[in-house]
Amino acid sequence: MIHARECVTSNTGNKGPEASADSGFSIAEIPGDLLTALLDNPYESLILIDAEGIIRFMSSSNEGIYPIPVKDAIGRHITEVSADTRMPRILQTGKAEIGRSMVLKNQHRVVARIPLVKDGRVVGAAGKLMFMSPEKLKELYGRIEALKNNLDFYKETLNQVYGSRYTFENIIGNSALSLQAKALARQAAKSDSPVLIIGESGTGKELFAHAIHQISRRRNHNFVKVNSASIPGELIESELFGYEPGAFTGARKQGKPGKFELAHLGTIFLDEIGDMPHLLQVKLMRVLQEKEIERIGGKPRQIDFRIISATNLDLETMVRQKTFRLDLFYRLNVIIIRLPPLRDIREDILQIFNHFLNQLSRENHRSIHAISPDAADALRHYSWPGNIRELRNVAERALIVCRGDRIEIDDLPMSVKVKRPEEPPINNSPDSSLKALIENAERAAILQALKASGHNRNMAAARLKIHRTGLYQKMKKYHIP
Ligand SMILES: Nc1ncnc2c1ncn2[C@@H]1O[C@H](COP(=O)(O)OP(=O)(O)OP(=O)(O)O)[C@@H](O)[C@H]1O
Ligand SMILES: [Mg+2]
Repeated sequence: MIHARECVTSNTGNKGPEASADSGFSIAEIPGDLLTALLDNPYESLILIDAEGIIRFMSSSNEGIYPIPVKDAIGRHITEVSADTRMPRILQTGKAEIGRSMVLKNQHRVVARIPLVKDGRVVGAAGKLMFMSPEKLKELYGRIEALKNNLDFYKETLNQVYGSRYTFENIIGNSALSLQAKALARQAAKSDSPVLIIGESGTGKELFAHAIHQISRRRNHNFVKVNSASIPGELIESELFGYEPGAFTGARKQGKPGKFELAHLGTIFLDEIGDMPHLLQVKLMRVLQEKEIERIGGKPRQIDFRIISATNLDLETMVRQKTFRLDLFYRLNVIIIRLPPLRDIREDILQIFNHFLNQLSRENHRSIHAISPDAADALRHYSWPGNIRELRNVAERALIVCRGDRIEIDDLPMSVKVKRPEEPPINNSPDSSLKALIENAERAAILQALKASGHNRNMAAARLKIHRTGLYQKMKKYHIP
């Protein structure tokens, strides 16, 4: 049996069969009936000749193409069957002719003629004829072109929809901290460096990531979001890197591109990067180093993407605690944009609230554009653990319940309009030992962090720069429910 590597050489640089030969694969391993089905398929014809030009195999689909029936053609010289065939020339030159056109029975056909080589010697040739005519191919190509145009149209439309929503003009706030964050983001958009956006929940991390993409040179390509925390472990690989057809049982027949591949030439947004499982951190590191991805069951391919990541966790502490890889942290944090919590930019609260009020009024065909002084006061003084997202929700609710033409204090939810009871004083114990004072201060700091993060313990722990379990222990110690 001739091995695949020895069997085919061509001048086209096609390495397919060689690659399979590297794994020790031999045609002898293909079951006989499968081999027959491959050679004898109805979509193309195949003729194999030996070094003398004698026909050794002719697929049944050749029936009717040549003047001699297939069963009588075997054993005859190829020129007896087809007088002007170029197959003898392939035996002489040892060079393949792929994708040539020829006229057979008044029809244009696409042919490939390939020498069969063993130990450097031409031992025969294969002639393949595609039954699809060049016209048919042209038609198919036309259909692909039309689909591609449609795709471009949808991309453009999507871009317009998202593009207008996520621009810097829609990032409201004139406080020093907001202006600083916006200026840094605009600067970042000019470069291709990785950007890490850090901020509590609802501070606008995704909005910023979009806005950066929209003014970057990659704006006409995809912005692909990956939620690092929500992909189930067993799907991570196929979600991010994709797979080839038939890569595993249950895989889609046509294969699937991964998120990185979809982000080619565009931006990949890794959200909640602090929650990324360790295994994924390792894989991500490799992708960032090599800028190369591999579909499951496929070959490596170069991908060109820009990376923006975001987190509401304290990555530095996580690095110290070894729950986040140091090398990955350094890769991601080339440009760090810190988004302030709303309680640190109180001067922006009313401006952002008014922006939402106008936007929502327009969308809901209402015309409420004002707010009473005591309602404004309540908005300014609330702690906003859910930040700008919570502010938007409050605006939306206020618009629904508002019956007049301006937002009143009663249109605000209880949590916003009622002043919270003060926390217990820092030192209410008669014990003035240093240990008691420290414990009191610790308890107060924990209560404060819990309050500021809307009693979300993960966020409170991140805020205190301690581990979650450490926070739980301390809450137990100080009887904090
Ligand atoms: N500066 C801003 N001006 C106007 N709207 C904003 C601003 N910041 C955030 N928003 C809006 O607030 C909402 C929350 O923003 P976004 O989803 O970007 O926050 P996030 O930081 O990604 O939150 P999370 O951590 O919960 O995912 C969105 O509706 C966004 O459009
Ligand atoms: Mg987000």
